[in-house]
Amino acid sequence: MTDQHDAFFLQAHLQYVANLSKQKESLESCMSEHMRVSGFYWAVGCLAALGKEAATPPALVDWVLACQHPNGGFGGNLGHDRHLLYTCHAILALVMLGKENAVLVDETAAFVASLQQPDGSFVGDEHGEVDTKFTYCALSVLKILKQEHRIDMDRAMAYLGSCKNFDGGFGNIPGCESHGGHIFTAVGALSMGHQLDKYADANGLGWWLCERQCDSGGLNGRPEKQADVCYSWWNISSLVALGKLHWINKDKLIQFILNCQDKADGGIADRPGNVADIYHTFFGICGLSLLGYFEGKEEFAGFQRIHPIFAIPHRDVERLNLHAQVLP
Ligand code: FPP
Ligand code: ZN
Repeated sequence: MTDQHDAFFLQAHLQYVANLSKQKESLESCMSEHMRVSGFYWAVGCLAALGKEAATPPALVDWVLACQHPNGGFGGNLGHDRHLLYTCHAILALVMLGKENAVLVDETAAFVASLQQPDGSFVGDEHGEVDTKFTYCALSVLKILKQEHRIDMDRAMAYLGSCKNFDGGFGNIPGCESHGGHIFTAVGALSMGHQLDKYADANGLGWWLCERQCDSGGLNGRPEKQADVCYSWWNISSLVALGKLHWINKDKLIQFILNCQDKADGGIADRPGNVADIYHTFFGICGLSLLGYFEGKEEFAGFQRIHPIFAIPHRDVERLNLHAQVLP
């Protein structure tokens, strides 16, 4: 058993996730109504990482399938317009539950491909906002559905290259400041398109990312910002893809994530002492997984390792024969 200082409060976290669907009247629940499908992905992701995805209530699977548009794509909740972000999150959750066959392949792939712009970028829906996170979502969905041929991959990769900054990082559109979250989407998409070696500077970007580690051990998303648990996923997955994970102090980061747990009620917050939420709970668990914290410990034997690019268990990445480029 681990000692108290290092403990991961597994039972409390499982209870925290189980309680989420009972909190329909809470303020947090009402405020996140428009992005309920993302919450579902983070919750199923927690369960899958902890080896408990079978505990997902069947009614919630029916609900997410009812968010699928008859012409392909998913909305963020029942009756909402389809959007690339929720399409990606719904499909990732369905994959983790082994239910990806319920996705309308042709319709969804046509919807995703229709969002690519002449410069290679992607918009999230017909409203036209461009962001590298939509490129990541498009590639993830198309690879899962085996429909990559529907888009111009070289243009998609070149567009990501145009978002690269002088400091080696990436913004979400050309000319925008480097940021851990946008770096994840660019690195993840370049990795899925097998052109990470062409467009990323592993040394420069690796240096920028490891400079994000603060005295607390936690990582921030940009210089001068506070450490935040979610960058234990956004930044660490990029460091893994670039082959530079050994450039940060893993033990200090693991301790920072563990310090952000709510020992009594479960869940993980963005930083120690703050209120836990499902987003930081999922990415905290993913960070611990990438850092190898669960490896070789008997009490975590049923856990599933999370893949740094696809953000689902390695088991599912292998089952679907998905490939991405990771630098040595
Ligand atoms: C920072 O979020 C993170 C990003 C901008 C990246 C978002 C990427 C996606 C939504 C693509 C899909 C991702 C996965 C894993 C499938 P933030 O600014 O909200 O974080 P913060 O406020 O907590 O710092
Ligand atoms: Zn955060």
